[in-house]
Amino acid sequence: MSTKASIPCEVSPEPRLRAVGVSDVRAIFELERSSFANPWTELQITEELSCELSYGLLLESVVEQAQVLMGYAFFRLLAPEAELLKICVNSSYLRQGYAGRILAEARTVLRANGVTVLHLEVRESNLAARKFYLREGFTETGVRPRYYSGGENAILYSCQRMSALAELPGGG
Ligand SMILES: CC(C)(COP(=O)(O)OP(=O)(O)OC[C@H]1O[C@@H](n2cnc3c(N)ncnc32)[C@H](O)[C@@H]1OP(=O)(O)O)[C@@H](O)C(=O)NCCC(=O)NCCS
Repeated sequence: MSTKASIPCEVSPEPRLRAVGVSDVRAIFELERSSFANPWTELQITEELSCELSYGLLLESVVEQAQVLMGYAFFRLLAPEAELLKICVNSSYLRQGYAGRILAEARTVLRANGVTVLHLEVRESNLAARKFYLREGFTETGVRPRYYSGGENAILYSCQRMSALAELPGGG
């Protein structure tokens, strides 16, 4: 994970969600490098995009007349199950609800494709992500000991709620 200070930035106009395309590989790679200790390479991102079961979603905006990648997520679908491979938000825009927005849109698309349960695994030390997943309705389902390089455990989560928080009665 990045140790860079996160400086909040104003975004205008409203960011928009769209499917990831091949032309986004470079920008995603840059965000990968600044966000993960073991980032995907450009080749891995390209290969992920070419996988039939893959679904990539990104959030972008225009900041000071430049296109900015706010965040993205990649999923693998094999209905009725899907896996969240990764979700990442630009460190300048954390804690502004953008990961929640990406996941909300993804849930709509996954549900429309027959997905009823979403799984993921995350490094035990990644407390920000774990809190985010709990907030998004995921429950911890197990541990894969020493799963990651360096011997870190993977914590497994699942969620059967395929609607966004805002779609639920009292959701926000
Ligand atoms: C995990 C991550 C995607 C969250 O993105 P985000 O846009 O900041 O998340 P949101 O603003 O939608 O957060 C929603 C809620 O999640 C929880 N949360 C998110 N980040 C948190 C943090 N650093 N500490 C505690 N809770 C956190 C909070 O409950 C938050 O609601 P609140 O801000 O009202 O308290 C982001 O921290 C990230 O990109 N991390 C680096 C990449 C990564 O590790 N991805 C996950 C593994 S693939």
